[in-house]
Parts: sequence; structure tokens; C-alpha cells
Amino acid sequence: MDIYGTATPYLPQLLDFVMDRVRDLSNKEVAADRPKLYEHLIGRVKAQASMEEKCRRKGYPVTPESALTKCKDVIGIRVVCNFIDDVYRSIDRIKAADWCTVVEEKDYIENAKPNGYRSYHLILDVPTDLPDYTGHAPSHYFVEIQLRTIAIDSWASLEHEMKYKHHVNDPERIEKELHRCADQLASCDVQMQTIRQLINESN
Ligand code: GTP
Ligand code: MG
Repeated sequence: MDIYGTATPYLPQLLDFVMDRVRDLSNKEVAADRPKLYEHLIGRVKAQASMEEKCRRKGYPVTPESALTKCKDVIGIRVVCNFIDDVYRSIDRIKAADWCTVVEEKDYIENAKPNGYRSYHLILDVPTDLPDYTGHAPSHYFVEIQLRTIAIDSWASLEHEMKYKHHVNDPERIEKELHRCADQLASCDVQMQTIRQLINESN
């Protein structure tokens, strides 16, 4: 059974389309003599097994409709930026883009999660000529974009890995150390931003 049904072949195409549009946005910045928007981009179509697990966890029926309309992260892109300013500039450019509409946003940078996680999440609604899971075209798909700095991205990878290590000796200690580390990285990001500002002002 395929959780994405007849939409399966369109998902990688849509991922490519959105990643190309985000690359265009950064190229336009560079063409206008501004810094590139991000250091690197990664993207994925959510694996079938993870999507099935998510539908069950959320109490949705395990169907293409749930996977593609109730869950909004079938297509996920991570924009990893050098500086915090670049995160917010990327968000501004995405909001101004004509190929998508932002339908949800969560600012875990201003409001870090209790574990110290910092990232900005957008859900986009992207119109396309491709058919949806009912076969109807033109249609639209949801895409999740996570934006964060390189420092915080390295933290999030480590923290994500720890989630699956359930047999560590002292989980509270690890959580506390991870939280402290997130706060230090966030403070470094602010310092780095200040240094960039100082360099710009002296040019
Ligand atoms: P999901 O059911 O996972 O989609 O959560 P949600 O709908 O409440 O969305 P949220 O925006 O909080 O999280 C979406 C995604 O952000 C997750 O699937 C992770 O990829 C990432 N994320 C959120 N919180 C954390 C966290 O504490 N640590 C790490 N490493 N990643 C996180
Ligand atoms: Mg989500």
C-alpha cells in the first residue's frame, strides 16, 4: 500500500520545483549585491513509513488524503543560513514570492522550545499544474520549510539523534547540557551577527 497513492511520482518533482525557486531567490540577492540567503539547502520527500507513523500518532486514517492534506510536511526543505539576519531575510523573500502562499508560521527563534530548539518553520501552499491525489489538476501541495543557522542546525542534528537513544544513563543531565549548548550557540549567533555588522559599517 502506498500512503501517497497516485500522487507518489509528483512529489520529487514538486520538491525539485520548490528547491529551484528558493535557489532563484538567493541568486537574485547575489545579483543585487546582497549576501546569499543561505549556506546550504536540503530537501526530502517524507519516507512512507514515517508518514504512516505520523498519521497514526495524530489519530488520522492512514490514507493519501491525511498524508497530503492533514499532514503538511510531505515535502520538507531546510534552509541553513550563515547568520540570523539571513534567516529573516529568507523568510521575507519567501513571503513575497508569487509561486507560494505562507499558510502557517512558527517562530521558535524568538520563542525557543523548552528543550532549547530554535528554528523558524513555514508551511507553504504551492499551486501546481501537477495532479493531486484525486487525479485532479491543476492542484496545490503543502511544503514545510525550516530555517535556522548553521550553529543551531548542528545542535538540532545531535538533539534529534539523542531522541532515539532511550537507554542513556542520565537523560536529565543530557537534556540540561543540550539546553545549555543551544543557549550558547544562540548567543554566538548574535555575536557573529554583530561582527558582520561591524565589518559592514567599516566598509
Ligand atoms: P510534527 O508532528 O513533528 O510535524 O510536529 P508539529 O506539527 O507540532 O510541528 P513543529 O513545527 O513543532 O515540528 C516540525 C518539525 O520540526 C519536526 O518534524 C522536526 O523536524 C523539527 N523539530 C521540531 N521540534 C524539534 C526539536 O525539538 N528538535 C529537533 N531536532 N527538531 C525539531
Ligand atoms: Mg509539522
